[in-house]
Amino acid sequence: MALFGRTPIPLYAAALLLGTLLVYQIYAPKGERTDIELYPDDVQMVADGKALYAQHCASCHGAGLEGQSNWRERKSNGRLPAPPHDETGHTWHHDDLSLFKLTKHGLQFVAGDDYESDMPAYKDVLSDRDIVAILSFIKSTWPAKVRETHDEINRRARLK
Ligand code: HEC
Repeated sequence: MALFGRTPIPLYAAALLLGTLLVYQIYAPKGERTDIELYPDDVQMVADGKALYAQHCASCHGAGLEGQSNWRERKSNGRLPAPPHDETGHTWHHDDLSLFKLTKHGLQFVAGDDYESDMPAYKDVLSDRDIVAILSFIKSTWPAKVRETHDEINRRARLK
């Protein structure tokens, strides 16, 4: 093994480090961020979110956040229609971080890779800030009572 004998040790170390980084890139958990918080009282955030919602989400979830008709019933292809994001839906049942992950990585992220859904993943389309802005806008439209319940859901999720 003369070849190995002559290779400088730092080269092995560098190769090992690169290999480790590569493996981490491939297998790292997809939900890398945990510091997500919505800002429904931030006027700029909500204004930006409103515009982005109209552009990226309204076609399915409705211009008035009303969702698609009969959203509780599966379509003939087995997939669910887009639910409303207003207080009649179940968006507010999920804490900030879950909503962020759902939007960024799609429903497969929570429901498993086999789950078929029309909900796109936005990781290559929207920045983290854009996603937070959209979700902040959505939260800003909820009645005070629903917002308070959602704050409580967040508190409980953070204690976990
Ligand atoms: C092409 C249609 C489509 C577009 C565009 C779309 N969605 Fe969805 N979305 C869906 C469908 C369909 C579901 C329900 C899927 C399921 O449960 O299988 C869903 C579910 C969700 C959920 C989970 C809601 C819950 O109560 O469980 C969130 C959050 C969400 N969408 C956010 C967004 C946001 C934010 C945007 C824009 C950035 C967006 N969606 C754009 C189709 C869409």
